[in-house]
Amino acid sequence: MPSHILIVDDDQLNMMPELNGYEVCRRMRAMPEINRIPIVMLTAHDSLEEKVKGFEAGADDYMTKPFEPKELQARVKVWLRRAVTVEREAGQIVGKTISVFSLRGGVGVSSMAVNLAAGLVELWQHPAVLIDLAMVSGHSALLLNTPLKNTWGDLVPIPKEEITIDVIDKALLSHKSGLKVLAAPRHPEDAELLEEEKIIHVLDLLQSNYHYLVLDLPHNFTPPALAGLDASHAIMLLMAPEIASVRGTSMALDVFASLGYPRDKVRLVLNWIFERRGLSPKDINKVLQDKIDLVIPFASDTFVSSINLGRPPVIDDPETPIGALLEDLAFFLSKDEHRKKKPEKPTEAWKRVVKRYKARKN
Ligand SMILES: Nc1ncnc2c1ncn2[C@@H]1O[C@H](COP(=O)(O)OP(=O)(O)OP(=O)(O)O)[C@@H](O)[C@H]1O
Ligand SMILES: [Mg+2]
Repeated sequence: MPSHILIVDDDQLNMMPELNGYEVCRRMRAMPEINRIPIVMLTAHDSLEEKVKGFEAGADDYMTKPFEPKELQARVKVWLRRAVTVEREAGQIVGKTISVFSLRGGVGVSSMAVNLAAGLVELWQHPAVLIDLAMVSGHSALLLNTPLKNTWGDLVPIPKEEITIDVIDKALLSHKSGLKVLAAPRHPEDAELLEEEKIIHVLDLLQSNYHYLVLDLPHNFTPPALAGLDASHAIMLLMAPEIASVRGTSMALDVFASLGYPRDKVRLVLNWIFERRGLSPKDINKVLQDKIDLVIPFASDTFVSSINLGRPPVIDDPETPIGALLEDLAFFLSKDEHRKKKPEKPTEAWKRVVKRYKARKN
């Protein structure tokens, strides 16, 4: 994982007569071992031509002097995060990682994550892992009625270097559906002791060992949330039809943009958690200047019974409208290699999705 960023400062580079900053960039970009290291150019030249020349030489960013150290720090942070993502994408990754996120609490993040993860297992019969990154108050294991025998807390005393996939597997809970769960620690103080580096390491190992990872994220941008968002291939950004939630969604979109996430990594999901008097999707689109991708209808009966019984509707009630919608969503978010060809042994879930798809087409 890269922890480097190169800042090319022309004051220093001019001291080397035959190798200027542009040439350093060009040579670095031609060297496969280091060509993914982000390069920020720092120079007194602020003409458009000089900037274009910098970008053409392979720089990722360009700052002119004098500059505010704080701005440089902020840019370095963004580039380091982006470099981690690029590195991951270039590696041998198997696991598609989908996170569910909202800056407001209580809008259905955990319900959605649990159903999505369970839906993926039902569809493909590959073990998937539901990872609770809401370290302080996470309750995904509860939604599956799985006793909290193991949690993230098990990994607290183990040094990062000693955490292998076998060690992580021992910390996973097993649901009878085949879904694995890495549950939030039982004690909130354990959450404090899980460093970002360790969380990233665990996510990396799980990604290269499981086909699907679904992340139940906290409602903030703390290190666990950022580690999860960075590792994700898709983010379900959830909101309720009320103004505070829409405002939170708008803020989250801004932060995602500043982190360099491509817009198509994000799906905007409106979850109708109350029965009436919500903002209309049309008004929400207007406020966000963007388009909601999916609306989940109010379905208190299904959700409440599912919570009380610890059985997600996608497993228990796949024929109800909400169960079917969540199953279709799991299919839609599946890996291309799974979606695009008929499985050797199609599961009941797969057959239902295909049947509904055909019915919609006719
Ligand atoms: N579409 C829906 N229709 C009706 N009720 C819903 C719907 N989606 C979620 N709920 C209910 O909303 C409540 C909050 O859901 P959930 O716990 O999944 O949200 P959360 O964002 O994870 O909350 P927290 O802030 O506690 O982590 C639950 O009681 C759940 O049953
Ligand atoms: Mg939750």
